[in-house]
Amino acid sequence: MSGQIPLTYDTVIIQNAPENKEGALLEDKFKFEIQSRPMPELQDREVLVENHFFSPDPFVRVLFLTSQSVGQKVRGFTVGKVVSSKHPDYHEGQYVMGLLEASTHSVATPDKPNVIKFIIDSDPSQDSFSHLYHVKPSDRVSLSAFLGVTGMPGITAYVGLKHYLKISKGATVVVTGAAGCIGSLVGQLLKHQGAGKVIGIAGSKEKCDLLLEYGFDVAVNYKDADYEAQLSKACEGGVDGFWDNVGGKTMELVLKHLKNEAPVVSCGSMSSYLPTPEEEKAVNEQKQRNQQLADEKKTKIVQYVVASFPRQEWVEAIEYISDLINKGVVKYQETETDGLENIGKAHDDIFKGRNVGKQVLRVKICQV
Ligand SMILES: NC(=O)c1ccc[n+]([C@@H]2O[C@H](COP(=O)([O-])OP(=O)(O)OC[C@H]3O[C@@H](n4cnc5c(N)ncnc54)[C@H](OP(=O)(O)O)[C@@H]3O)[C@@H](O)[C@H]2O)c1
Repeated sequence: MSGQIPLTYDTVIIQNAPENKEGALLEDKFKFEIQSRPMPELQDREVLVENHFFSPDPFVRVLFLTSQSVGQKVRGFTVGKVVSSKHPDYHEGQYVMGLLEASTHSVATPDKPNVIKFIIDSDPSQDSFSHLYHVKPSDRVSLSAFLGVTGMPGITAYVGLKHYLKISKGATVVVTGAAGCIGSLVGQLLKHQGAGKVIGIAGSKEKCDLLLEYGFDVAVNYKDADYEAQLSKACEGGVDGFWDNVGGKTMELVLKHLKNEAPVVSCGSMSSYLPTPEEEKAVNEQKQRNQQLADEKKTKIVQYVVASFPRQEWVEAIEYISDLINKGVVKYQETETDGLENIGKAHDDIFKGRNVGKQVLRVKICQV
């Protein structure tokens, strides 16, 4: 190991979790502790990564409900620098992105299948969640962008558009959660691919203003009193395609304007991830109403997980989106929280809509 590597590293451990985790935001109910541990000795084909940013993604919440429990490290995507390597494909000084931990340092094992079995049931040699991706920051693409617009969420947008939301030139398309990481990229890619009218739905005036800057044709704030009337006006003539990140009532309102057989991608469902036991019935009834409307419109609501796409497609997406940012075609924004000790807040802010663009957690002050 080189001389710059400290003897210990810090990692976030789940110290306490509620019995009933449903409906719980992390900060309210979970307790985290930062523990210092001895730096591990690298084994053959392992890579030591100094993590610069951690990604508080909505799916980290799903991990909390399923596989992450008391005493364990918090897992999620990170981006950082290789500081030591016993793997022939990775060298000191290179930048990498992968599913590691909320830690100052992580040992990556790029050849081993990842243990997040509830998400992945695919060929381990192709398993995109296990792989450690080489990334190339530039003047326009920051290192942290590889957790967002050119990271797992951006790849989600890319594969979803490529495989499931094929539109014709001039099409009218609605995007919800439009000022978030995936939504803002989807809208810009749709315009780049020839959509005629892209309507974005977001939760504040500032977010709507940003969407117009990004080239969305119309931006509607779902918290406005006359939101439904604004949306109906925007959708006059019918909707040819629908990218949904939030589900719930908003999905229903958009589906009403959908043309028959128009494609619908349900990428995520931010409005219904955290129902309390009291809210669960209403959430399920809303889902049924949405499905019924989709049936009436003779359309299938497509759902997919980015983890099921092979790593080659991830590499292709990273290159495609990086190129568009470097050419000035795609813009992005990030909301940064500092320090591993704020992991709960950084995660909960996504569910409170406090992020514009990608929410990232800075682990280490660094200059790239
Ligand atoms: N299919 C896949 O493989 C895959 C992969 C990654 C992510 N996803 C999903 O894609 C969606 C977007 O992810 P992202 O990383 O880009 O997140 P994000 O959009 O950057 O952040 C989430 C946004 O959702 C909105 N939101 C939060 N609670 C809401 C509610 N109750 N009702 C309506 N909107 C709400 C907030 O914006 P407002 O202020 O506008 O409300 C918030 O900023 C998520 O549902 C995520 O789970 C899917």
